[in-house]
Amino acid sequence: MGNERVIALRSIDLTFYEGEICSIFGASGSGKSTLLNLLAGMEKPNRGQIVIDGTDITKLSEDEMAEFRQRNIGFVFQSYNLLPMLTAEENVAMPLMFLGMDRAKRLRAADVVLREVGLAERLRHYPSQMSGGQQQRTGIARAFVARPKIVFADEPTGNLDSKTTVEIMNMMVRFARQFGETLILVTHNPELVEFTDRIITLKDGEIIEDSYTNREEKHEALT
Ligand SMILES: Nc1ncnc2c1ncn2[C@@H]1O[C@H](COP(=O)(O)OP(=O)(O)OP(=O)(O)O)[C@@H](O)[C@H]1O
Ligand SMILES: [Mg+2]
Repeated sequence: MGNERVIALRSIDLTFYEGEICSIFGASGSGKSTLLNLLAGMEKPNRGQIVIDGTDITKLSEDEMAEFRQRNIGFVFQSYNLLPMLTAEENVAMPLMFLGMDRAKRLRAADVVLREVGLAERLRHYPSQMSGGQQQRTGIARAFVARPKIVFADEPTGNLDSKTTVEIMNMMVRFARQFGETLILVTHNPELVEFTDRIITLKDGEIIEDSYTNREEKHEALT
């Protein structure tokens, strides 16, 4: 920034395992979003590798990265990021378009997931006609519909009340477990890390702690 050099992250060395439910935790400005955006291929690091399932994503061109993301990655945003001109089912069907599925089949698949997140009555509603919690359920349905390998979520409940937060957290964790997907959640809220199996704590761009909430159970699951 101008003459000032901002180091957002340094000496990050992390391995995530398939099916892990992790949180990246830390104060504002600690580098959580930067780390998540790097992992999801939305930003490029100055140095280092980011290998997902054998592919170093830092080596991909923008087009290759876009395709890789469509095939492997789901994202849940704090501000939902639904397309306002599309209904809930059209928003959720979107990621399936890139997989070459025809429209009728896409909408049917979207409906199934929307019913699972409790939105059977809202399939044809537009984002502006839904509450924040309903919009985020739609966001979760969209993130999981194409069964990506990894779902990233950056403060997904940051705009929601505490009751809705618990519903949304349980829903994401349930989906990730059901499909055996890796979930990586960014939060500054110590109550939310309790929903995850592994907590990675950042401070000033560095990892200061990386621990499993139930080590034995996790070890069994990995071996
Ligand atoms: N595009 C950028 N240019 C310069 N500095 C940046 C940029 N993005 C982030 N930073 C800096 O990098 C550091 C980490 O920012 P980051 O957004 O990753 O933090 P965060 O942990 O997600 O914070 P929050 O909880 O407030 O979202 C901060 O010091 C921030 O000011
Ligand atoms: Mg952030």
